[in-house]
Amino acid sequence: MSVEIVRDLRGLHSSIARHRNGPLNTAASLAIVPTMGAIHKAHEKLVIEAKRNADIVLVTIFVNPMQFGENEDFSKYPKSEQEDIKRLESKGCDIIYIPDIDAIYPEGFDLTINIPKLSSVLCGLKRPNHFKGVSTVVAKLLLQSGADYALFGEKDYQQLLIIKSLVKNLDIPCKVLAIETIRDENGLAISSRNQYLNAENRKLANNINKIMKNAVDIYKNKDLESTIKLVKENFITAGIKKIDYIEIRDNNQLNNIENNDKSNARLFIAVYIDNIRLIDNIKL
Ligand code: PAF
Repeated sequence: MSVEIVRDLRGLHSSIARHRNGPLNTAASLAIVPTMGAIHKAHEKLVIEAKRNADIVLVTIFVNPMQFGENEDFSKYPKSEQEDIKRLESKGCDIIYIPDIDAIYPEGFDLTINIPKLSSVLCGLKRPNHFKGVSTVVAKLLLQSGADYALFGEKDYQQLLIIKSLVKNLDIPCKVLAIETIRDENGLAISSRNQYLNAENRKLANNINKIMKNAVDIYKNKDLESTIKLVKENFITAGIKKIDYIEIRDNNQLNNIENNDKSNARLFIAVYIDNIRLIDNIKL
């Protein structure tokens, strides 16, 4: 069966019902992969993993205005609907939901979901409303679809923890599956922002993963502060001078590490290359 495109809630519900009661004629399971389009290899991997875990795969494409700040250009977010559809279909996606704005935020919509503690650190510091927008839209998409599984990449690790918390706190009957970061041949985490890097910037960006891997070794022998200091020096030496943050936090709750406890730490970085903000993380 070829992929079905739906654009409103009624269309989504009838498509899911058809698929759930279709040829499988069982209580077929449904996995959702929420995206903002500009489909790349990392999204494709999520679809492949969704297919491995569930009978029906639903991908959503919605550039969510609520998660963009005032100076972040929502209107310039890359759009490539036809290409996206082709790529998703080729990976076995069953339904693509491309909701009109009214399907997500109908007139009179008045709700913001906030997961305050997890959202207030790392990327949340500079983007104070970003994760409220993410939490709100993801809650809507999970509830609209009634998906049994939802897949998210570990590249956006903070987002992943926030969504896990959202699902747990609201008792949404959906299992969140975390998928390892997909990297290119130089280790650069795949992101829709990579397309803005020119050849020279890409060379700089190729250092990120090497520096992160090296941090794993540094942290074996040094304390937290010295590790961060050395990682910072490595970025600067590599020519990446504009650093938003380099932090080591607890892997599950993003708490500060107490007493130099090394058992459950993760390194998080956000850097700018020519004003393109790149993030990455690694388990230490
Ligand atoms: O990671 C993204 O692309 C977005 O934040 C998401 C999860 C699709 C919500 O809009």
